[in-house]
Amino acid sequence: MTNASFDLERAPELIAATGAALGRPLEILDETASTNDVAKRAAKLGAPHGATWLAETQTAGRGRQGRVWLAQRGESLLFSVLARIVCPPSRLPLLALAAGLAVRDAVAKAAPRADVRVKWPNDVVCEGKKVAGILVESIGATGANAALVIGVGINVHSRTFPAEISPRATSVALLAHAPPERAQLLADVLAGLDKDLTLVAAKGLGLVHARLTKADALAGARVVTDAGMTGTARGIDTEGRLLVASEDGERTALVAGEVHLVG
Ligand code: BTN
Repeated sequence: MTNASFDLERAPELIAATGAALGRPLEILDETASTNDVAKRAAKLGAPHGATWLAETQTAGRGRQGRVWLAQRGESLLFSVLARIVCPPSRLPLLALAAGLAVRDAVAKAAPRADVRVKWPNDVVCEGKKVAGILVESIGATGANAALVIGVGINVHSRTFPAEISPRATSVALLAHAPPERAQLLADVLAGLDKDLTLVAAKGLGLVHARLTKADALAGARVVTDAGMTGTARGIDTEGRLLVASEDGERTALVAGEVHLVG
């Protein structure tokens, strides 16, 4: 561990206490380009299932759809977990949703009065503002080095944000009454991920689907899709697709992409 801030010091003991297979070994980096890239490189060199890399700051943090992930040093929980789960590409979105649920549950535990939800496909939001994002990437679909990297960025201590994301961003500190501890959040996310990933990889979304439906940020909301279709979000199906009903009642099941709230 290198230069861990005070609120990460308890991470190894809290992770051990969960009994989860994820988060060990844990490496805390002061600075790196992207923890997802560190994890992918380590995966190719044979790093084990559960290995986790956390950074105090990233110089090239990546989000979905080629976006940049912005975070101030020490204010976020930025980490990537290596999961040696063989998963067909078609199931990756389900694992990303399961990861979203694990992050949602951990944030909701830290901020019990906030209405924290999963926004399809893999954001965690509270009242329309994003508190966390997830980037799942796979390495080698088959073979000895097949692995998934689950990258998580949670805004934890931030109270202000860069102008370009400020209207749409929030943090655990802004949602919670007690100051959050990143070590506890990390341990909670890893424990939830450990449970849900195995379940979803083995049996699909079925067993977590009810929880996901309850946590769905978009249910009943007017949305516009990447393709410009406007409609009402009607839930996430067991295949992980977002159901959108257009004005004329036609239903579309979105497999990938993004939707934006209308109005
Ligand atoms: C998104 O919402 O677009 C996904 C954001 C994922 C950000 C995390 S931060 C840790 C890991 N390393 C990265 O470069 N990205 C992910």
